[in-house]
Amino acid sequence: MWAMRMSRLLVPTLREDPSEAEIISHKLLLRGGFIRKVAAGIYTFLPLGFKVLQNVARVIREEMNRSGAQEIFMPVLIPSELWQETGRWDIYGKELFRVTDRHERLFCLGPTHEEVITDLVRTSLRSYKQLPINLYQIQTKFRDEIRPRFGLMRGREFMMKDAYSFHTSEEDLDREYREMHETYCCIFTRLGLDFRVVEADPGLIGGNFSQEFMLLADSGEEEILACPQCQFAVNWKSFANEGESCPKCQGGALIKKRGIEVGHIFKLGTKYSEKMKCVYLDENNQEKSMIMGCYGIGVGRTAQAAIEQKHDENGIIWPLPLAPFKAAILPVDCADKEQMAVAEKIYQSALGNNLEVVLDDRPDRVGTRLKDIDLIGIPFKVIIGPRGLKEGKVEIKGRASGKTDLVPILDCNDILSKLISGQS
Ligand SMILES: Nc1ncnc2c1ncn2[C@@H]1O[C@H](COP(=O)(O)OP(=O)(O)O)[C@@H](O)[C@H]1O
Ligand SMILES: [Mg+2]
Ligand SMILES: [Zn+2]
Repeated sequence: MWAMRMSRLLVPTLREDPSEAEIISHKLLLRGGFIRKVAAGIYTFLPLGFKVLQNVARVIREEMNRSGAQEIFMPVLIPSELWQETGRWDIYGKELFRVTDRHERLFCLGPTHEEVITDLVRTSLRSYKQLPINLYQIQTKFRDEIRPRFGLMRGREFMMKDAYSFHTSEEDLDREYREMHETYCCIFTRLGLDFRVVEADPGLIGGNFSQEFMLLADSGEEEILACPQCQFAVNWKSFANEGESCPKCQGGALIKKRGIEVGHIFKLGTKYSEKMKCVYLDENNQEKSMIMGCYGIGVGRTAQAAIEQKHDENGIIWPLPLAPFKAAILPVDCADKEQMAVAEKIYQSALGNNLEVVLDDRPDRVGTRLKDIDLIGIPFKVIIGPRGLKEGKVEIKGRASGKTDLVPILDCNDILSKLISGQS
């Protein structure tokens, strides 16, 4: 639970579009005081931005735990020896941040964690009876991207959920892969986002089979072909042509869309386990290489991509699960004792109901404050003004619907609770 007085909150909003930003979601994150650039592709998350990041992470964590995966936490600093075992120390190239310790030993800052997890599993599991297992973390990743851009979309330091599963058969990997597919669908659906799963290469079962989860947005870097009548989508360059009829439902004609890759699920097979001797003993006491899958979600990229989908000319329109605060309580005139007293009362009962609300007690003009609240995308506003108060009422306004309801002060918190829990 998080509640605040706006006058105390670090939220340095900007009136003008910052010149460093090209796409709307990046502009709005900067203008709304969510993030600040420290260096190319490196950002500080301010209170609002960090809360949104945690909201994405919370939904991911709940769904991953529900699927039976176990959360761990691996180091950022990885000794080069592990990466030498797979050969990636030499082939990964300039994207890998390399550092040297005081003893001249080489390390990298983890861009992904196959080596570390495979080392963990080979030293802690022996028997087929201990498999399958799926381990995940939510961690900072480092990639020295050639062109860091679009804010959190392509950073050099960014938050990722990465999961790795280990199996004794291809069939069991397939089962877990489908489980992760399902889990990812639940995650992006819960977050209220419009996504497609791109069948990157349906011909190539086994080996490096993978699928990407794309949020649909015009600014997306990936071109896809999507069916307007079902969920089918493919990579633009791969197999189909625009206008071709959808192979899944036979109904719609495929149309070109743009997408932002927010998640990626892979069947790795034995690529890492063979090189690193990650083996188990089967029923006949025979050594076999474990069969692996891996599953990633960009946490910050998802948060920002959500804005590409959910905004208007006034700012962000957060889906409820992502919103840093679910409602803003806003007296029209903070110098007015009666308005302020009602606002305080509503704020205190909201706290009692564990609602994540912000009390906008700033001394500025009401128009300026309303603009800020809309810019940062708070889903509901409770506006306490002189006219309503005469009848013992306040206004509740929805950010997405634009709808205003005049409600009795006494009912305000019940109504707010229902709206916030999505029951109304
Ligand atoms: N530079 C980056 N900045 C922010 N998020 C990233 C970045 N690179 C990857 N991600 C996120 O992490 C997820 C998993 O990454 P992965 O598929 O391994 O990377 P890539 O697609 O660049 O090969 C991606 O789907 C994306 O959401
Ligand atoms: Mg990818
Ligand atoms: Zn279709």
